[in-house]
Amino acid sequence: MEVVELSPYRGIVFTGMGGSGIVGEITAMFLERRGVDIPTLVVKDYRLPPCVKEGWLVVAVSYSGNTEETLSAVEEAVRRGSTVVSVSSGGKLKNVALQYNLPHVDLPQGFAPRYALGYMLSAVLSLMGMGDISQKMGEHLASYSSVIKEKAKELAQRLKNYLPVVYATPLTGVCAVRYKAQINENAKTLCHTALLPELHHNEIVGLDNYLTRQMCHFLLLYDREDHPRILRRVQITRDILQEMGLVPIELEGEGESFEERLAYLIYLGDWLSYHLAVLYGFDPLPVKSIDRIKGMLS
Ligand code: PA5
Repeated sequence: MEVVELSPYRGIVFTGMGGSGIVGEITAMFLERRGVDIPTLVVKDYRLPPCVKEGWLVVAVSYSGNTEETLSAVEEAVRRGSTVVSVSSGGKLKNVALQYNLPHVDLPQGFAPRYALGYMLSAVLSLMGMGDISQKMGEHLASYSSVIKEKAKELAQRLKNYLPVVYATPLTGVCAVRYKAQINENAKTLCHTALLPELHHNEIVGLDNYLTRQMCHFLLLYDREDHPRILRRVQITRDILQEMGLVPIELEGEGESFEERLAYLIYLGDWLSYHLAVLYGFDPLPVKSIDRIKGMLS
């Protein structure tokens, strides 16, 4: 698949759900950091916003290719005359692409969607002209793999028997999304997230309740390239939690580039959720409730 030339477009929409949806969130952030100056929207819904029409690029990602929200968004994009590119391991999305003669990227089959993040991200980053980033992220993870797995195991032991609460910053917000989804799906456990700076305008007051805060264990994700005032807010959050006798775990990715540090944090969360599943005695793979709901809707 060739790199998509972005200059003719008025905006880009990434659409996809769950383990596939996060690919759009990561890609949109990377595009913004590269200075792409057209709007990049992430849609996790059946409908597209009214601004999306002719002149827009819609990138649809569904590992299975059968997710109805994504298929609906694609049909709507085609009706409105947007340019659609799709990524899946087959399924209905591939058939729709064939039917309308849309460019389509085929992924290897046989994985659970959330375990195919590497394939999906690499495909979409390559389409957006960022194949170099994807390759560097992969190499970086290979070199840190054993360190990350060990650290994840230790973190899982600390989180066991608590509600994990992930506080994150603008640059690490996508990691919080991934931590929550992975803890939900692999460890079959609830997980709460909130983002700075918004959490300083509401969530922080919720900590006043001793009974509920004592049930939580807090992770504080940040990156050194976050805005200086955000980094100050990270310190303030840590201090407030410590004043309450809580022991927040501060996490920053290892790596020279932002993309490497982000990959590190995501991989850490993936392994953390795996070890948490093991500690609770759950098989990380099946997601019966998701399958059941998809079955009820089909
Ligand atoms: O991880 C999962 O299994 C889910 O979050 C799926 O990714 C989600 O239901 C969407 O399915 P798909 O990725 O096949 O479009």
